[in-house]
Amino acid sequence: MTKDFLHITDLTTAEIWDIFRLAEEVKGKLKGREHYHPLHDMSLAMIFVKPSARTRISFETGFYRLGGHALYLDPASIGIGKREPVKDIARVLSRFNDLIMARLYDHEHILELAEHATVPVINALTDYNHPCQIMADMFTIYERRKRLDDLKIVYVGDGNNIVHSWLRLAARLPFRFTVACPKGYLPDEETVDLARQAGLSEITISHNPVEAVKDADVIYTDVWASMGKKEETGERRARFMGFQVTAELMAATGKDTWFMHCLPAERGIEVTAEVMEAPSSIVFDQAENRMYVQNAIMLKLLGKA
Ligand code: CP
Ligand code: NVA
Repeated sequence: MTKDFLHITDLTTAEIWDIFRLAEEVKGKLKGREHYHPLHDMSLAMIFVKPSARTRISFETGFYRLGGHALYLDPASIGIGKREPVKDIARVLSRFNDLIMARLYDHEHILELAEHATVPVINALTDYNHPCQIMADMFTIYERRKRLDDLKIVYVGDGNNIVHSWLRLAARLPFRFTVACPKGYLPDEETVDLARQAGLSEITISHNPVEAVKDADVIYTDVWASMGKKEETGERRARFMGFQVTAELMAATGKDTWFMHCLPAERGIEVTAEVMEAPSSIVFDQAENRMYVQNAIMLKLLGKA
């Protein structure tokens, strides 16, 4: 097992399946209110430079439910990279805590944190990727379908951090993955190549959402302007015209299709309120599963399962 979890490709295919099986087990135990405290007396330091609801709540609650204690370190007090260098924070936290989790802007900072920390580091989103989210999303699909074969996922919108994690998952598990995005908002080319070169999944990049979604089992979207890009909101709304997930786009798949979104969602922008609230929307299952999948990842990194 890897020391840190910074990218989905830090895991092997077998380890991904192990995490899904463990997440299922942890979910059963925690939902059944079983006394299950494998992380008793352990502590998790959570560094947040970007805002968060789900990530903070799922990590803090999840670590506590496993018997440990989680500390929330807000942007102002820790000042990573500003008040002191990343490498110093890494070494200080490693002296107190058993595990570090961080949500940062700069992907280089998470790499540096992991390099200098002597305890495991988990990436809780950077400008480049969001591995915990996509692990929870694929687990959610598996939980509902009971299998992952013959699966087509179409991501409609900005080629952002969420897409990079989907592409890295596609380098470990086989599925058809299509990204429908406007020209100029493509995912990182090297990550697309990495997914293609793994030779497991079929990767398609399209600029035509209606064509792209044909036969999709899942339509996935995310905000058009991610954290750090909010000042581009107006320009992006104009450039992303035609990429909103509507009931018509859902129907264009020609089959029953689930709607997924990592949240927070902007209703009426990247997705209509109707799609968000439809029975085919599984966005809150995704949110819930963040906790169980992250718990499984933490147990594995700490050698407790
Ligand atoms: N999906 C997700 O990571 O949500 P938060 O930004 O609220 O943590
Ligand atoms: N792409 C979004 C994901 C939020 C969970 C962002 O980075 O803001």
